[in-house]
Amino acid sequence: MARATTSFTCNACGAVHTKWSGQCDACGAWNSIVEEAPLSAASGKTSLGTARGRAIDLTDLSTREAPLPRTASGMGELDRVLGGGLVPASAILVGGDPGIGKSTLLLQAAARFAGTGLKVVYISGEEAAGQIRMRAERLGLTDAPVQLAAETVLRDILTTLDQLRPDLVVVDSIQTMWSDSVDSAPGSVSQVRAAAHELTAFAKRRGSAVILVGHVTKEGQIAGPRVVEHMVDTVLYFEGERGHQFRILRAVKNRFGPADEIGVFEMTGGGLSEVTNPSALFLSERGQPAPGSAVFAGIEGTRPVLVEFQALVAPTPHSQPRRSVVGWDGGRLAMILAVLEARCGIPFAGLDVYLNVAGGMKIGEPAADLAVAAALLSAREDTALPADCVVFGEISLSGALRPVSQTENRLKEAAKLGFSSAIAPAGGKPGGESGMTVTRMSDLTAFVGEIFGAG
Ligand code: TYD
Ligand code: MG
Repeated sequence: MARATTSFTCNACGAVHTKWSGQCDACGAWNSIVEEAPLSAASGKTSLGTARGRAIDLTDLSTREAPLPRTASGMGELDRVLGGGLVPASAILVGGDPGIGKSTLLLQAAARFAGTGLKVVYISGEEAAGQIRMRAERLGLTDAPVQLAAETVLRDILTTLDQLRPDLVVVDSIQTMWSDSVDSAPGSVSQVRAAAHELTAFAKRRGSAVILVGHVTKEGQIAGPRVVEHMVDTVLYFEGERGHQFRILRAVKNRFGPADEIGVFEMTGGGLSEVTNPSALFLSERGQPAPGSAVFAGIEGTRPVLVEFQALVAPTPHSQPRRSVVGWDGGRLAMILAVLEARCGIPFAGLDVYLNVAGGMKIGEPAADLAVAAALLSAREDTALPADCVVFGEISLSGALRPVSQTENRLKEAAKLGFSSAIAPAGGKPGGESGMTVTRMSDLTAFVGEIFGAG
């Protein structure tokens, strides 16, 4: 029989190595490999070994399942991200930077769910019960029937939960939980994994919904291996920029609803309040049309959202020009700069390029390509785009504009916010009755010629 040996796991990608090294071969991350305690002897036996398993029950695909009994909290922005409400026997991971407002959000959510008649338990490993009560007072939630505990010993927590059988358990945070089945410190990879496993198993066994809070590392990943993300049903990230009041709750994985759905909140003195019209909020800081600004009509999950891209292009004093991006993908920016140079003959060599999404929003849609190109060109030519115009479309390496999904929803949202014209790729579905003047173009050169009279 193989000897139980210590293994080494990469915190960033979850790859397992036989010995420690400074860099992970699998993902290239530095200083991410940590030691893990060996599995106990019993679990080391193979399935073909001495211990015989029990036969499992199999069913066929035609088995009728009732629709998921969801409970809505009444906070529309949260319910949408959850896919319509909380599903029993599900495990949800909420990740985010320290101080972004995870505990505030979950205390408010716990109170709302308790208000709908669910039995709710809130367990904090980070704050004393007194501190949580103080926060509840600030949020005006002191009367909510939420059961509170400050505890980190997982065995005690699970024993209590098994007796109480709550409908919803919030565990804040998974990094503070300590399982005595694993011989390492709280917050280590094996502890986080064991705690997540035991709490997820509890959710499935008892039919409770379990919400785990996870801190995010500097690299933007939930601390501990990626395996935690694979264990749970739903992964939500709570994002926001420091200095901005907006907070965005984003579903990156959801077994019970659409991924990529977002909920928008505003942090106020009295906790998080819902933002039902995010486009208006993201465009609220927009003044007179300035060079370098382009409004993108985007789709986040199932909802259209308008955001402003801002670009600055300036001669560089350095041999290597800077490319700085906030809220968008740096690789995608490099691609668009290359397409502008190669297909339209507009060079950016010797120029520093800065690109921002206003309001601290992160955009991942390729449909934003054309808005980025418009912002870059407008900054470079020092010419403002028409104030009433929105832009969307994907750019291919050949410089062709590709149609994007949900054209009609994008146009409707733009019309609702007072825009009257749009630049969109040729082809795709017609705009419908949005009332917008839509200029359709098939390639980037035509776009450059139309807007800037060059090309
Ligand atoms: P918190 O929920 O403790 O963050 P996390 O759990 O993600 O670490 O939120 C902390 C911040 O939120 C803190 O800087 C204060 C701010 N805050 C408000 O602005 N208003 C409020 O009503 C509350 C409760 C917190
Ligand atoms: Mg907290």
